[in-house]
Amino acid sequence: MLDMPAVIFYEVVLAVHIMAVIVAFGVTFAYPIMFSLAARLDPRSLPVLHRIEYSIEQRLTNPGLVVVLAAGIYLASKLHVWSAFYVQWGLASVVVIGGVIGAVMIPTAKRAATLAERDLAASNEDPVGFSDEYRALTRRLATVGTLLSLLVLVTVYFMATHTGA
Ligand code: HEM
Repeated sequence: MLDMPAVIFYEVVLAVHIMAVIVAFGVTFAYPIMFSLAARLDPRSLPVLHRIEYSIEQRLTNPGLVVVLAAGIYLASKLHVWSAFYVQWGLASVVVIGGVIGAVMIPTAKRAATLAERDLAASNEDPVGFSDEYRALTRRLATVGTLLSLLVLVTVYFMATHTGA
C-alpha cells in the first residue's frame, strides 16, 4: 500500500469517490416508489418508513457525503483543478445537499413520523384519514427530495463530462 504509485492511488481515490456517491445517494432514488406503495398498500407502515428515511440520511447519506467531499478534495488537489467549473459546482452541491438534508429533510421526516403516528392513532376510518398538516409535510419531503436527486444527477453529469481541467 505504501509503495503504491501515485497514479494508482489516484485511481483508487477516484473509485472511492464514486463508490461513496453510490452508497450515499443510491437508495434515495427509490424513496418515491417506497412511499407511494406504502401509502397505497399499508398506510400504517408510513411512520416506520419515515423513521427509516431519516435514519438512512443520518447514518448513510451524510457520512457518505463526507467521504465524497474528502475524496473530491484529494482529487482536485492532485489534478490541480480547484478553479475548474465542475469542482466548484461539486463543492457547492455538497454544501447544498448536506445543508438541506440536515436543515429540511431530517427534521421534516421526524415531524412526519410523529404526525403519521398521531393521525393513525386518532383515525378509525379505513382508509386512514391523514391530516392536512401531514400531507403538507410529505409533499415537502417529496418535492425537496426530488430536487436533491436532480442535483446529484446534474453533478454526476458535470463531473463525467468535463473536458480537461
Ligand atoms: C454530490 C457531489 C459529487 C458527486 C455526485 C460527484 C461525482 C463524481 C463522479 C461520478 C466522478 C467520476 C467522473 C469520471 O471519472 O468521469 C467524479 C470525479 C471527480 N470529482 Fe466528483 N462528485 C461530487 C463532488 C465532488 C467534489 C466536492 C469535488 C472536489 C472538491 C469533486 C472532485 C472531483 C474530481 C477532481 C474528479 C476527477 C475528475 C477526473 O478524473 O478528471 N467531486 N465525481
